[in-house]
Amino acid sequence: MFSMGKMNHQYLPLFLASCLFFISLSQTSSNTSSQHHCLPDQSAHLLQLRQEFVERNYSDYYDYHNGSYPKMKSWKADSDCCSWDGVTCDTQHGVVIYLDLSNSWLYGPLNSNSSLFSLRHLRKLNLALNNFSSSSIPSEFGQLVRLTHLNLSRSFLHGRIPLELSGLSNLVSLDLSFNYFNYFFGGDYHYKLLDLRRIDLEALVQNMTYLRELHLDDVNISSSLPQSLANLSSLTSLSLSFCYLQGKFPSDIFLLPKIQAIDLAYNPELAGFLPKFRSRSSLKELHLRETNFSGEFPNSMDSLGSLNVLDLSETNLFGELPNLISNLKSLNYLDLSYTKISGEMPNSFSNLKSLNYLDLSNTNFSGALPNSIGNLKSLNYLNLESSNFSGAIPSFIGNLSQLTYLSLSYTNFHGQLPSTFGNLAKLTLLRLDNILYNQKVPSFLGNLTQLVGLSLSENNFDCGFPIWLTNITTLRFISFYSNQLKGPIPSEIGRLSNLSVLELFNNSLTEAIPSVLFTIPSLSTLWLDQNQLIVPLIIQNNSLSPLLDLGLSESKMNESVLRSIVNFTKLQVLSLSSINLKGKVELNTFFKLKELQMLDLSGVTDKDKSQTR
Ligand SMILES: *[C@@H]1O[C@H](CO)[C@@H](O)[C@H](O)[C@H]1NC(C)=O
Ligand SMILES: *[C@@H]1O[C@H](CO)[C@@H](O)[C@H](O)[C@H]1NC(C)=O
Ligand SMILES: *[C@@H]1O[C@H](CO)[C@@H](O)[C@H](O)[C@H]1NC(C)=O
Ligand SMILES: *[C@@H]1O[C@H](CO)[C@@H](O)[C@H](O)[C@H]1NC(C)=O
Ligand SMILES: *[C@@H]1O[C@H](CO)[C@@H](O)[C@H](O)[C@H]1NC(C)=O
Ligand SMILES: *[C@@H]1O[C@H](CO)[C@@H](O)[C@H](O)[C@H]1NC(C)=O
Ligand SMILES: *[C@@H]1O[C@H](CO)[C@@H](O)[C@H](O)[C@H]1NC(C)=O
Ligand SMILES: *[C@@H]1O[C@H](CO)[C@@H](O)[C@H](O)[C@H]1NC(C)=O
Ligand SMILES: *[C@@H]1O[C@H](CO)[C@@H](O)[C@H](O)[C@H]1NC(C)=O
Ligand SMILES: *[C@@H]1O[C@H](CO)[C@@H](O)[C@H](O)[C@H]1NC(C)=O
Ligand SMILES: *[C@@H]1O[C@H](CO)[C@@H](O)[C@H](O)[C@H]1NC(C)=O
Ligand SMILES: *[C@@H]1O[C@H](CO)[C@@H](O)[C@H](O)[C@H]1NC(C)=O
Repeated sequence: MFSMGKMNHQYLPLFLASCLFFISLSQTSSNTSSQHHCLPDQSAHLLQLRQEFVERNYSDYYDYHNGSYPKMKSWKADSDCCSWDGVTCDTQHGVVIYLDLSNSWLYGPLNSNSSLFSLRHLRKLNLALNNFSSSSIPSEFGQLVRLTHLNLSRSFLHGRIPLELSGLSNLVSLDLSFNYFNYFFGGDYHYKLLDLRRIDLEALVQNMTYLRELHLDDVNISSSLPQSLANLSSLTSLSLSFCYLQGKFPSDIFLLPKIQAIDLAYNPELAGFLPKFRSRSSLKELHLRETNFSGEFPNSMDSLGSLNVLDLSETNLFGELPNLISNLKSLNYLDLSYTKISGEMPNSFSNLKSLNYLDLSNTNFSGALPNSIGNLKSLNYLNLESSNFSGAIPSFIGNLSQLTYLSLSYTNFHGQLPSTFGNLAKLTLLRLDNILYNQKVPSFLGNLTQLVGLSLSENNFDCGFPIWLTNITTLRFISFYSNQLKGPIPSEIGRLSNLSVLELFNNSLTEAIPSVLFTIPSLSTLWLDQNQLIVPLIIQNNSLSPLLDLGLSESKMNESVLRSIVNFTKLQVLSLSSINLKGKVELNTFFKLKELQMLDLSGVTDKDKSQTR
């Protein structure tokens, strides 16, 4: 119409006025031309679709339905369907081209006669996060040939993925992930999955040449992957966790020009090797956890400058970390746990400034931790448990002030715990089992006021019960077993009102167990075995207590005390072996423990009974 560049400023008002006139004209005429408005058949199909499902809100263990609402509820027959929630039309023709009914409370089977398949102009369809009641994917999806995006994830679909789906050759994004369905049958849990036969997968890969995203997590593939997957040159994201994959992974997929994310986790029978990565690879996420990948940790990893997440946990990779690992400048998540990757940490490791998650547990990493690790200021998870790192416990760990999780348990570190650990004020979980010999429990740990779990077992601590502990009221898990703790359990322990697990067995604790311990409303596991404790009469209404596991072996008690214990009616495990009991124990005393799976009465002087039911 006009070219703005050539226009003089003096004409500008005139130009704007004519535009306004044009706009108002087009608005008044829009009713008659019915542009933007949905065609009657489109509206009818949508309303029919609404009829096919029950509207039901449900929440699930994983809470992935958070933020959901019934989008179709607002659909009104007398209004323009193009304005309905979740519906988008082609403005030229008034046909529905996008339909997003994800997380919308759809409940009931998705049938092959569904009016969904009459919406022939659909290009994007998202039905994720609904409950299609374990129906299968109708082959009629193959008729929606204009689809570029199809998302049916987490919708309780199962059965064979129809061959017809591979006719959707315009698909750019296909997500059929996490359609598992648990059920209890014949005394056992079973689960149903979507199945994708190898020939159907081949057809799919051959036809969907524009695919950028392919997400099939939890789909039962149970075969090897076709080499032709590596022909999908537009692929950016491939997610195949929990697919029962077999055979060897086609390595060329790692080298696809646009690939950004590969998730093959939890396919224990999938073998493979990491390739020599091309320089400037676009890869951002690589998850190989619990696969049968093997070979040496590659030297060419350093070309993965965009890599954020590297999870090689529980693979058969071996070798040492190359110095050039420092080139992984974007890395923020590194998990090498349960691998055979070993050797010393290269000093250059400290250049990984973005790192916030580091798991080297259950590896053969050895030697001292380089001081420069103290520079990894973003680190909030550090797990070195059961590695062979050695030397004095590094005081620079106390500089990692963002840490929320720290475990040095079962390492070869030794010596006093540096007081810098008292600076780790954000810690919620601290595990220092089996490395602090013959010391007192370091009281500066009382500074860690956010702790939820503290594990200091097998350390030979020779001291009283650390009373400062009872000030950390966030604590839920305390593990202090196999030490030399002496004297009484202080009654201040009753302040720990969130306590769920208390493990104090195999110490030298004496005197009466404070009965306040039995009133903590969240306590489910209490292991006090192998001390010289006296069990008090517990007079509350114990049947409301959540106590599941109780270990009191080698404690002293009398018959009425025993009866008060049997009032914890939810008990599943009760260990009373070698108790010093005044009085008789009748087996029918235990009959009201309906949930009991294990009862240990071995070594009880009056009755010599150990039984399981
Ligand atoms: C256009 O339609 C709207 C309702 O959809 C109505 O309120 C309005 O009066 C109509 N305008 C004309 C010019 O018909
Ligand atoms: C959906 O159900 C859950 C659990 O029954 C409930 O907590 C939640 O508030 C409900 N959501 C809505 C929006 O009604
Ligand atoms: C639901 O999601 C919102 C926003 O993501 C989050 O703040 C909230 O905690 C979640 N609710 C539950 C119950 O997880
Ligand atoms: C669609 O199929 C289902 C199941 O086969 C059936 O119950 C239902 O009546 C059919 N609906 C229509 C409109 O034919
Ligand atoms: C989904 O529907 C099935 C069958 O109707 C039902 O057994 C299951 O509990 C539902 N799942 C959820 C999370 O509501
Ligand atoms: C599918 O939809 C779900 C829920 O909206 C979303 O979380 C997921 O990212 C979608 N998948 C793809 C590949 O976009
Ligand atoms: C591939 O798609 C075309 C239509 O686009 C179809 O005719 C053909 O049958 C499809 N191939 C397979 C193997 O599904
Ligand atoms: C996966 O598919 C294989 C082959 O069809 C079958 O033997 C196996 O039971 C399936 N597994 C599950 C969990 O559905
Ligand atoms: C995949 O690409 C290879 C060459 O890399 C070619 O030989 C093969 O025919 C292609 N396969 C398909 C199914 O297109
Ligand atoms: C404990 O915390 C206090 C105050 O937050 C601080 O002054 C002190 O240095 C900390 N002690 C240790 C051993 O970190
Ligand atoms: C526990 O906290 C109280 C204040 O809430 C304080 O007076 C007391 O000294 C603390 N006890 C220990 C052992 O740190
Ligand atoms: C056991 O609980 C019952 C109520 O459930 C109560 O009457 C009885 O006194 C309790 N016995 C002991 C020994 O605490």
